[in-house]
Parts: sequence; structure tokens; C-alpha cells
Amino acid sequence: MTEQLKTITSMSTLEALVGAKITQELDGWVAKYPANKKRSAVMAGLMMVQKANKGKLTPELMDAVADYLGIPHVAAYEVATFYSMYNMKDVGQYVINVCTNISCMLRGSDEVIEHLKERLNISVGETTKDGLFTLRTVECLGACVGGPMFEVAEVYHEHLNPEKIDQILDRLAKPAS
Ligand code: FES
Repeated sequence: MTEQLKTITSMSTLEALVGAKITQELDGWVAKYPANKKRSAVMAGLMMVQKANKGKLTPELMDAVADYLGIPHVAAYEVATFYSMYNMKDVGQYVINVCTNISCMLRGSDEVIEHLKERLNISVGETTKDGLFTLRTVECLGACVGGPMFEVAEVYHEHLNPEKIDQILDRLAKPAS
């Protein structure tokens, strides 16, 4: 067997799909848990491969994470379909997750959504034509005291109003210099 073939056959499917950097990072998560609780790293694993795949999970990627952790494929699917931060379909570069739970609703999440819909010219669940923004509604993000709020690019934005929302969108839409 040639050296190259040996390397390919000893590589996990996950590594072949997303690269060694991500599997090493996932190994770091696995090491945080007892040896017989590797499945605890499934959320981190799914999030890493999702990021590496332009924000979207595929059956192939979920299977690879499950195989890497030695858990049934369905265990990865259960997690991926339960939590709103995992995406099974194409999303924009930025996914805006607007909390519509009780505290945010009482503090004006409806107005936040209406403003976003108007400004982005899309409905909830859609992505702008330029592929920049996807608009979604989610359950409580644990920042109730700061409502109305949304999360985008792993940053929480609280006490939102139309001006603040426009500033955030303008900043995100600006090409990196
Ligand atoms: S209700 Fe919106 S963050 Fe909790």
C-alpha cells in the first residue's frame, strides 16, 4: 500500500470532509467528557461542521460526526433537528435569530420583525437575494431582560429599536476592509 493510500484509508470520514483542524478541535471537546460519554460532544461537533459548510448541515456531515463519536446516526439527527441553531437548508451569510418569546414579545419583538422584514424585503424563514441575511424567529435566547433582542453572528443585540437595527445591518453589510 502506498503512503498516500495509507493516509487516505486511515483518515476518518469526518476529517476527509472538513479537515484535520476541525477533528482536532472536536477531539478537544471529547476530552472534556468521560471516555464513555463521547456523545456529549455532538452539539459542538455539529456546530463546527455546520460552520465549515457555509452554515448548513447535510446528512453526510451529520453521519460523519456521529461515526466519529461512535454514536448512532439518529442521535446526531435528533440534536440537529431539535435546536434552532442548526440549519438543514441553505442560509445567508448572517442568520438573524429574533427571539419572540414572552418577554421579548411584550417588549416589542413584533415591531422588530416587521422592521427587519421591511428593511430586508423578505419574510421570516427567507434569505435576501444577495445571500447576506436570513431572518428567523426563535424561542427564548436567555437574554429576557434585554428584550426585544436578536442574535446574529454569535452576538446578542438587545433593547432593539429601528435605528439600532439599521445600524447593525449596515455594519454587517459593509465589506470587510
Ligand atoms: S424572552 Fe427573549 S430572550 Fe428570553
